[in-house]
Amino acid sequence: MNALWMPFTANRRFKSDPILFEEGHGMHYVLSDGRRILDSTAGLWCVNAGHGRDRITDAIADQARRLQYISTFQVGHPRAFEFAERLADLAPGDLDHVFFTNSGSESVDTALKMALAYHRALGQGGRTRLIGRERGYHGTGFGGISVGGIGAHRRPFGNLLSSVDHLPHTYNHAEQAFSRGEPAWGAHLADDLIRLIQLHDASTIAAVIVEPVAGSTGVLAPPVGYLKRLRDICDEHGILLIFDEVITAFGRLGHAFAAQRFGVQPDIVTCAKGLTNGAVPMGAVIAGRKVHEAIVQGPINNIEFSHGYTYSGHPLACAAGIATLDIYQEEGLFARCAALESYWADCVHSLKGHPVIRDIRTIGLLAAIELVPRPNGPGLRAYECMQRALASGLMVRSSGDQIVLSPPLIIEKEQINFICETLSEVFAGLD
Ligand SMILES: Cc1ncc(COP(=O)(O)O)c(C=O)c1O
Repeated sequence: MNALWMPFTANRRFKSDPILFEEGHGMHYVLSDGRRILDSTAGLWCVNAGHGRDRITDAIADQARRLQYISTFQVGHPRAFEFAERLADLAPGDLDHVFFTNSGSESVDTALKMALAYHRALGQGGRTRLIGRERGYHGTGFGGISVGGIGAHRRPFGNLLSSVDHLPHTYNHAEQAFSRGEPAWGAHLADDLIRLIQLHDASTIAAVIVEPVAGSTGVLAPPVGYLKRLRDICDEHGILLIFDEVITAFGRLGHAFAAQRFGVQPDIVTCAKGLTNGAVPMGAVIAGRKVHEAIVQGPINNIEFSHGYTYSGHPLACAAGIATLDIYQEEGLFARCAALESYWADCVHSLKGHPVIRDIRTIGLLAAIELVPRPNGPGLRAYECMQRALASGLMVRSSGDQIVLSPPLIIEKEQINFICETLSEVFAGLD
């Protein structure tokens, strides 16, 4: 086991008691010892259409037989254009221009660079400041950790990007505990952007980036009116608004994009994960018309945006992505999520009352169950909970002292019941 240095993992702990997954079908994983495990995490928030979908497998295999690789620098292939058009059709408003990457982290860095290039193209090259938010997660590139707001992801890595500031996070236990959907309290926290504008001057600020629902930090839905307020302040001061929808896009909140659920139009959206149902690594940035038009101009021989990745628009990823969108559309999975939301919330909130639970938050097919930390070891209670759930046939994700749930959108009500019954037994057995 020694050769593999595992990401975001307590390597020595894992390797002392490893657990290996061999197969995935529908809602289930199969372990190397043959046990079936219900997946309430959609992989890592990505397998929205469930595991092992034949249609995606066939599309990848078919593409691999015809063309496995061509760059999209100065040349192209039909699947990349087709997939981009499908995404532009799905994205709200004038988000019409798709730039392919290989991950959420690359999407975030790409979006930040687009924002800087946009202002420079408009003659406002002084707008270089980027505003993120405390508790935000935007992947692991230097751009993403700079605007991100999770201390442990930033502290070991030095100075990061200069000219970054952060809005406060939107969570307040006293005001919002056991929330379903958007909490009523907290829209005023968006006004902190005005404080940052007064501090730095709008002429130095390029963009604000937020997750519409902060996922990795533990499912923090935006307070009612908060995103609209951010949008208004950005508009008033010529600042771009970027939604990082790496988790929230592709049905997780009952719509193609969270922007549609909350009725707020960003200037740029980032996505990944559910884009290909996790089958092939891929991310995308979808830019609004004004951003694209400002940058893509000048002499026709100009490379307008000096940015891209060897695997941007990879043929296998595009084939997987088109097949994924076909499944989402034909099976109506976004609407399915919306239809299940209140059943899901009722079921997860029924766990309230276990003494180890400090808070429960739900929105769409997302949930976080926050546990009271053990005095002798933060994070240990949730980790033990994850292990016990696994022993009972259920995969959950532990993050700090939280259990985070984000099942595939194909989940059935009996499977939701199984998740909650299993967790209830696990919580009852935890000291
Ligand atoms: C909101 C958000 N942005 C970016 C990322 C990074 O994505 P990746 O791990 O594909 O680089 C994640 C991953 O969870 C995410 O949740």
